[in-house]
Amino acid sequence: MRLDKFVCKSTELTRTEAKKLLKMGKVTVNDVVVKDPATQVHENNDICIEGQRLTARSSRYIILHKPLDTICSNVDEIYPSLLHLIDVDRAFDMHIAGRLDADTTGLVLITDDGRWSHNIISPKKQCEKVYRVWLRSPLKDDTAEKFLLGVQLQGEDDLTRPAKLEQVDEREVLLTITEGKYHQVKRMFAAVGNKVIGLHREQIGPVKLADLPLAQWRYLTPEEVSAFV
Ligand code: URA
Repeated sequence: MRLDKFVCKSTELTRTEAKKLLKMGKVTVNDVVVKDPATQVHENNDICIEGQRLTARSSRYIILHKPLDTICSNVDEIYPSLLHLIDVDRAFDMHIAGRLDADTTGLVLITDDGRWSHNIISPKKQCEKVYRVWLRSPLKDDTAEKFLLGVQLQGEDDLTRPAKLEQVDEREVLLTITEGKYHQVKRMFAAVGNKVIGLHREQIGPVKLADLPLAQWRYLTPEEVSAFV
């Protein structure tokens, strides 16, 4: 990770304060003064501030049941950031691995481990996300096949990746996708002439929301964390 990030992760300093300290030549990596905040370091390196060895806090991995009218951003906009719901130290130093729209509810994963979240977000990793979708019009017979073959979303070069659709009711389905394009589920149904009127994420990879109450969170178990490494 970047040296300035490591310094933040192992002290109470902000990123700006860490950079200032680096500029002043107070940080050493393996006994050499390093001033460039972007220098890549590893936890095994001997990193010191004025001779005091730093140890990074361990990363945190959280699952949250996102309520309506909250946003998956680190800054409040029209709606408040859902990070306000997490009563841990430095909640706003964490980030959300795979965003949901303000009007979508369900499973959100939150961490301060960028490498881990990359495994969830990166299109190359093809991590499965399961959504419960409520539709304005009854599901058409050919939608499942169209989604399996891929549909063309407006403004995209490629078809969507094969997606699995399971009908629950006339207007309710479970949809499994392995990518996370902007408003993907809503746009997929728009592409087949339907409209999403309710959207809820139930699962990412093997991690299920299950009975976690609305707006509540918990730490992931070690097994859940290791599912994405
Ligand atoms: N697809 C959408 O359209 N919205 C979401 O919030 C998530 C997936």
